[in-house]
Amino acid sequence: MAERIPLIAGNWKMYRTHQEAAELVRALIPRVADVSYCEVVVCPPFTALTTVAELLKGTRIALGAQDVYWKSEGAYTGEISPLMLKAVGCRYGIVGHSERRQHFGETNATVSSKIKALYDAGLIPIICVGERLEEREAGRTHEVVSRQIDECLDGLEEEKLAASVVAYEPVWAIGTGLTATPEQAQEVQAMIRGQVAALYKKQVADALRILYGGSVKPESIRALMAMPDIDGALVGGASLTVESFASIVHFA
Ligand code: 13P
Repeated sequence: MAERIPLIAGNWKMYRTHQEAAELVRALIPRVADVSYCEVVVCPPFTALTTVAELLKGTRIALGAQDVYWKSEGAYTGEISPLMLKAVGCRYGIVGHSERRQHFGETNATVSSKIKALYDAGLIPIICVGERLEEREAGRTHEVVSRQIDECLDGLEEEKLAASVVAYEPVWAIGTGLTATPEQAQEVQAMIRGQVAALYKKQVADALRILYGGSVKPESIRALMAMPDIDGALVGGASLTVESFASIVHFA
């Protein structure tokens, strides 16, 4: 089986001015400098990307954006293109986050366009999927997640998918303090890997990194990482303080 390098990513959401972001990464850099067993990524707001990129030069921490538009330029007021993210030093771009699906009209179709646009600019997508509470309670988790996977990955070449990152974020676990149990996350993530193996082939599924996201804390990371299909975490709230994010990164 392909060796998957674990990935711990911090999604800062709409928190931290660029000055606050600088303070946070300056403190974070020395705290994770010794980590070689996993990739560390921070995804600050757009306004802090340049500042954080400068500070991350020469470190092992990579930069990601929280969203992107699918055109390279044009009259799209308020949007940011993949080329702009690449120019600033981003390696990753989050797409399909449930907060964007809920508040900003993100759909599987727009996610699919964004994934292709990121690749065209040389960036790697972190593709978020996950069911809402009422969907889980109705026993529709697999149906909802597998449809998201199917439609978001539509038409994506296999070598691109193999290099991609999927984040399983059950909506009911985001910002609620309710982490999915390692078994619940494993069950869905194994389903996602199985689906990718069926849609593409086993080697692609084996290479694909699948993260868990939803109230990940220093106390919960170890048990999650012990699961065979959990290759890392997409961390929200706990990525905003150096103490908790560094301690999550030090799960091993
Ligand atoms: P929390 O870790 O704050 O629950 O957020 C998870 C998330 O949405 C990461 O993208």
